[in-house]
Amino acid sequence: MKICCIGAGYVGGPTMAMIAKQCPEIPVHVVDLNQARIDAWNSDQLPIYEPGLHEVVMEARGRNLTFSTQVDAAIEEADMVFISVNTPTKTYGIGAGRAANLEFVEKCARQIARCSSGHKIVVEKSTLPVRTAQAVKRILSSEATNLTFDVLSNPEFLAEGTAVEDLLDPDRVLIGGESQQAIDALCDVYAKWIPRERILTTNLWSSELSKLTANAFLAQRVSSINAISALCEATGADVDEVARAIGTDSRIGPKFLKSSIGFGGSCFQKDILNLVYLCEHFGLPEVAAYWEQVVIMNDHQKQRFSERIVKTMFNTVSDKKIGIWGFAFKKDTNDTRESAAIYICRDLLRERARLTIYDPRVPVEQIRAELTYACTDSNGQISDADRHMIENNIEVVDDCYAAADQAHAIAVLTEWDEFKELDFQRVHDTMLRPAFLFDGRNLLDRESMESIGFEVHAIGKSSQKPRAED
Ligand code: NAD
Ligand code: UGA
Repeated sequence: MKICCIGAGYVGGPTMAMIAKQCPEIPVHVVDLNQARIDAWNSDQLPIYEPGLHEVVMEARGRNLTFSTQVDAAIEEADMVFISVNTPTKTYGIGAGRAANLEFVEKCARQIARCSSGHKIVVEKSTLPVRTAQAVKRILSSEATNLTFDVLSNPEFLAEGTAVEDLLDPDRVLIGGESQQAIDALCDVYAKWIPRERILTTNLWSSELSKLTANAFLAQRVSSINAISALCEATGADVDEVARAIGTDSRIGPKFLKSSIGFGGSCFQKDILNLVYLCEHFGLPEVAAYWEQVVIMNDHQKQRFSERIVKTMFNTVSDKKIGIWGFAFKKDTNDTRESAAIYICRDLLRERARLTIYDPRVPVEQIRAELTYACTDSNGQISDADRHMIENNIEVVDDCYAAADQAHAIAVLTEWDEFKELDFQRVHDTMLRPAFLFDGRNLLDRESMESIGFEVHAIGKSSQKPRAED
């Protein structure tokens, strides 16, 4: 058995590194068109930051794990080919802004057909609209001459920041397919380290749809608790207390109830929009509207937070310095795709604030690129005002203290653990008064921050202390 994986990204890289680590007898070849990314996988500076990933890659790389740009050769040699390429939201034409762009997946299918002979198992690892396997099968059968194949759906459920843990000890592995022999071959790979009872098998369409559904349910929990956070701020209830109270009901459960500035990441929004598009396509507009509300609520949560900052700071942040702590979409990753921080920073820049940004893992070029992209309209244009702000009103610094120095306010946008360990008296001493602290992750202990002198505004917590007579 030889494995090839097309796509060396956040999923292809870690997933294949784990398979190679756990199955030393299986050669695993990960290929990508992006030479810089492959070079990074072959270096000591891996292209993605994930706790524990470096060790996993070092154990297998050079033994049975290879990274290269030799796509054709890798496909040709493999018995099992994983497709793990990006499936972003389409930005043009039919379904723009909603449907998944399947261009890269289709190109992979054509390439597999072109350079294969004998029998191959083609595994959809990318997240795909339900019934994509039908298209993959048609391409393979119409383009290939000397090839027989089976198509499996094996969606990935890892979360960034905990990818290694999730891959080592997943709640379940899902395999959808038609051929029992092909399903068994993939089950045998995972069974090297995952108990058989956690390997679920279904038909192809259930597997494809389960991945979109899992992300929709997870994102829905975040939007639900964020909707309640707005009501908490208005009434004096505390969203963390409400989350604890409802989460102890075993039917609801405690996970994914952390109120925040809104979910980010490359997948929740894209996958829900894809689900919305599919529902519309299948003539189910009410179902589409139901799921779309999860994304609408998420946009509202981001906007509500930047508006709260402006309103609290006497209705103007123009020429005021705001220290931004964290830019990644969650802790323990360098990924900034769809990070809520992008939109909050953009809104504050448009209010003419000066931002001093610190994130332990995100480099300055990436921050500028994300903000530029967020300010670019659908015709690819960016206004002079936005360009000016991005060039002149952002400074990226090396630590939280520098971000807070002489600042009117601090906004915590990512829940990095190191932000909890600071000398807050020192932070407070260098800030202007009142020293506003906007905690977008409810990360810091409000009472101790207030005792130092910060004016704290947290998510889902009323800014006014409740009075007995209220
Ligand atoms: P990514 O953008 O990090 O990586 C995709 C890689 O595929 C890129 O490096 C790109 O250069 C490469 N690629 C594209 N077309 C190619 C081709 N024809 N030949 C060779 N290489 C090609 O994307 P990702 O975050 O790894 O996501 C991949 C898929 O997995 C998506 O469908 C996503 O929805 C899904 N997914 C992602 C996560 C996550 O945490 N990021 C989790 C579960 C599932
Ligand atoms: C998510 C899913 O958790 C994975 O199972 C899935 O494989 C992946 O999407 C995918 O398909 O890409 P990921 O986006 O990496 O993983 O990270 P999450 O931990 O789910 O966080 C997503 C966003 O929601 C983050 O911005 C996070 O801060 C936010 N979040 C999460 C909250 O605001 N509150 C919570 O309680 C949980």
